[in-house]
Amino acid sequence: MRWTLTQALAFLQLASASSLQTRDTVTAQVNFNQNTGWPQHLASGLLYGVPDTVNQVPVQFFEDIGYNYERAGGSQLPAPGRGWIFGVTEYQNRFNSVLSNYITAREFDATFILLLSDLWGADLTQPSNAPWPGDNGDWSMWDGYLNQLISDIKSHQISTKLVIDIWNEPEASAFWNRTQTQYLQMWGRTYYKLRNAFGTTVQISGPSTANAPSQSNSWFQAWAQFVGSNQSVPDQYTWHMEGGSGDLVSSQAGLDYFRGLYGLPARLININEYATQNEQVPAGSAWFISQLERINANGCRGSWGWGETNLHNYMSGLLGETSTGTYYPNGDYQVYKYYYRNMTGYRVGTLPSSDLKLDAYATVDTNSRVARVLFGVRPSATGTWNLQMNSLSSIGLPSSGTLNIRTWGFFVASDVHFGEVDAPTYLGTAAHSYSGNTLTLPVFQNDNTTAFAFEFSF
Ligand SMILES: *[C@@H]1O[C@H](CO)[C@@H](O)[C@H](O)[C@H]1NC(C)=O
Ligand SMILES: *[C@@H]1O[C@H](CO)[C@@H](O)[C@H](O)[C@H]1NC(C)=O
Ligand SMILES: *[C@@H]1O[C@H](CO)[C@@H](O)[C@H](O)[C@H]1NC(C)=O
Ligand SMILES: *[C@@H]1O[C@H](CO)[C@@H](O)[C@H](O)[C@H]1NC(C)=O
Repeated sequence: MRWTLTQALAFLQLASASSLQTRDTVTAQVNFNQNTGWPQHLASGLLYGVPDTVNQVPVQFFEDIGYNYERAGGSQLPAPGRGWIFGVTEYQNRFNSVLSNYITAREFDATFILLLSDLWGADLTQPSNAPWPGDNGDWSMWDGYLNQLISDIKSHQISTKLVIDIWNEPEASAFWNRTQTQYLQMWGRTYYKLRNAFGTTVQISGPSTANAPSQSNSWFQAWAQFVGSNQSVPDQYTWHMEGGSGDLVSSQAGLDYFRGLYGLPARLININEYATQNEQVPAGSAWFISQLERINANGCRGSWGWGETNLHNYMSGLLGETSTGTYYPNGDYQVYKYYYRNMTGYRVGTLPSSDLKLDAYATVDTNSRVARVLFGVRPSATGTWNLQMNSLSSIGLPSSGTLNIRTWGFFVASDVHFGEVDAPTYLGTAAHSYSGNTLTLPVFQNDNTTAFAFEFSF
């Protein structure tokens, strides 16, 4: 690709920079002495993004990002596919979308998360007078729905690697337009009905809230208290992370606080919807990957298309398509491909800058003897940060000397989400002297889209 002036300047600055004065608020760290285990590319899950026609997107696109989770439930199909609240035929058409997406997921051994609320019909397109489970104390409609679904899951034999997500963003009135008490009754009822039907073969996840757990989140607290006393703790704790603030270490601490209060067990965490559309750019993706990997949480990329043709397509913001229907990767896709295909070896511990804007994910490959650090600033912040690479002697380098750093830029095309980008851009190699076992390099984030990677041999 042709470089813009900004990109060229970024490269020149990277190539010539000596270490800046370190300010903690702007310094992220890579600690090479902390082996945090083998990569499982935990961020490579999608919310929707998969067409309802199997193999419409060529397999290579899924394989190259290590696609491992899919979350879907037929959302936003038009009539006659609007879900259970519109009758059995409208449910069946929506279920066919679920079935197709399940087949795609299983083709790549990905786990499938079925969104109960979407198949029911609560997907933002429902009318304001839509019925809700348990209205006026009458559960017959909800029970009928679950009976039909349980029977369909059994007859289509789709219980392998299936997770049922009880409700999407239940604290948002657009998704659950009734009281939390009614929601909790629905939760307890559904949990036991699913367990009775499938045992633990089919997993259960929730509460998939829009907001993260924290001591001040009273909605989450009431949920945690209920599932503790009702003995209906899910197999995965789930919530969402989108738009601006927060970080996963503090959200995990919020969950742990409630676990302590109500004696809830540890479970896998799945941030089963992450990143707004503005955050679905290389800088944002590098940031989210770093966050998820730090706490060993799985994640599914948010999907920002509206309606079947856009919501169920483009691998949730990773692909574009020509007018003749040929898919191609965008700039963001290259981050996931590098993350999966290139960041081999073991993971090492990292810390975000204390303003939480710059974050990094890093691996050490002892076969090829290459260390790789992928980093990005959460979008809408620009400026200068530092990346501090510590304990270099722990991977066999001298504690002072010169390190040749190769830099890659992950750029977007002028059409940020749909413009084709076929590879990251090599920005050159520069020698940096270091001492005290640490090398600190500046990160010039001149736009709100670009991510970078440093590589060096040891
Ligand atoms: C919620 O339900 C009330 C009636 O109970 C209705 O007036 C309102 O429009 C509904 N809101 C949404 C977002 O559907
Ligand atoms: C859990 O809650 C559901 C819904 O209220 C109820 O039917 C069930 O009996 C409760 N189970 C326990 C063990 O409290
Ligand atoms: C990633 O790995 C592939 C296969 O080894 C290689 O061809 C490609 O150049 C690598 N990309 C980067 C950015 O290092
Ligand atoms: C990113 O920068 C562009 C160009 O300056 C701007 O139009 C866009 O709103 C910015 N996006 C965010 C998320 O700040």
